[in-house]
Amino acid sequence: MSERQEQDMHTDASRAFTTLVTGASAGIGFQVAQRLATTAPGPLVITGRNQARLDEAVASLQGRSGGPVRGVVCDQRHRTSIDQLLEALHGLPPVLQLVANVGVNPVHQQGPGRTHSTDYALFADTLTTNVTHTFYLLSRLLPAMRQARAGRIVLVGSMAYRHGLPGQVSYNVSKSALVGLKNTIVSEYGAAGIGCHLVNPGIVLNERTERLRRRLPAAEQPLPLTEAQVAEAIVSLLADANAEPRGRELDL
Ligand SMILES: NC(=O)c1ccc[n+]([C@@H]2O[C@H](COP(=O)([O-])OP(=O)(O)OC[C@H]3O[C@@H](n4cnc5c(N)ncnc54)[C@H](OP(=O)(O)O)[C@@H]3O)[C@@H](O)[C@H]2O)c1
Repeated sequence: MSERQEQDMHTDASRAFTTLVTGASAGIGFQVAQRLATTAPGPLVITGRNQARLDEAVASLQGRSGGPVRGVVCDQRHRTSIDQLLEALHGLPPVLQLVANVGVNPVHQQGPGRTHSTDYALFADTLTTNVTHTFYLLSRLLPAMRQARAGRIVLVGSMAYRHGLPGQVSYNVSKSALVGLKNTIVSEYGAAGIGCHLVNPGIVLNERTERLRRRLPAAEQPLPLTEAQVAEAIVSLLADANAEPRGRELDL
C-alpha cells in the first residue's frame, strides 16, 4: 500500500472502517481502546465476557470517541461465541484494524505447574483460546482486508515464551505460536497492504499479575511495565504506516 493509500484509509469517509479490540473492557485492551477511540475513523468495537463491565467501558469510551463505540460479549474460549461476534459485525464497515488482545494464562487462577504435571485439557484449552481462536477470528476478517487491500493487525504476545517462564507451559507455547501466525500473515498478505505485528510485553503491573508478582522473588522481577506503556506501543505500531518490515516483533 502506498503512502497515499495509507492516508486515504484514514481520511476518505467512503473508506471508513471498523476497529476491533478484543478483551478490551479492562486491562491493556481497554487502554488501547481509549487511545483508538479518539483516532478511529469509524466504529470501535470492543469485546469481553462480562456484559456489565463491557457496558461500563463503552460508556466511558463513548465520551472520547468521534464515532460509535460498541461492546460485544464474546468469550474467546468458544468458537460459537466468535461466530456471534462476527454476526454482530455485519452491517458495520469492514474491520481493517484489529488488536487481537485476548490471551488467557491459567497460572493466574491455578498457580504454576511444571510441564510433567500439566493437565492435557488445560494445555489444549489455553492453545484453543490463545491460538486457534485468534487464528479463527483473523481468518474470518482477512477477506474484507484483502478486498480493501488494507489492514493493520497487532497480536498481543508475551515475553514469557522467550524466557520459557517456568510453571506455565501452555501459556508460553501459545504465545510462541503467535510468531508463526504473524509471520505467515505477513508473507501471505504483506504485498496486499496488510500488516501484522506482534507485541511481547514483559510482566505488567496490573490486576492480572498481582498474585504472580507476589510469588516472584524481587530479584527476578523485570523492570515494571504499565498498561499505558504497552497500549502506547500497540497504538504506535498500528499508526506507523511505514513500519518496515510490515511484521515487527516488538519486545517490551
Ligand atoms: N498483564 C501482563 O503482565 C501481560 C504480560 C504479557 C502479555 N500480556 C497479554 O496481554 C493481554 C491482555 O492482558 P491484561 O494484562 O490486560 O489482562 P486480562 O485480564 O487478560 O485482560 C482483561 C480483559 O480481557 C477480557 N477477557 C478475559 N478473558 C477473556 C476471554 N476468554 N474472552 C474475551 N475476553 C476476555 C476481560 O474481560 P472479561 O473478564 O469480562 O472477559 C478484560 O476486558 C493478554 O493477551 C496477555 O496474555 C499480559
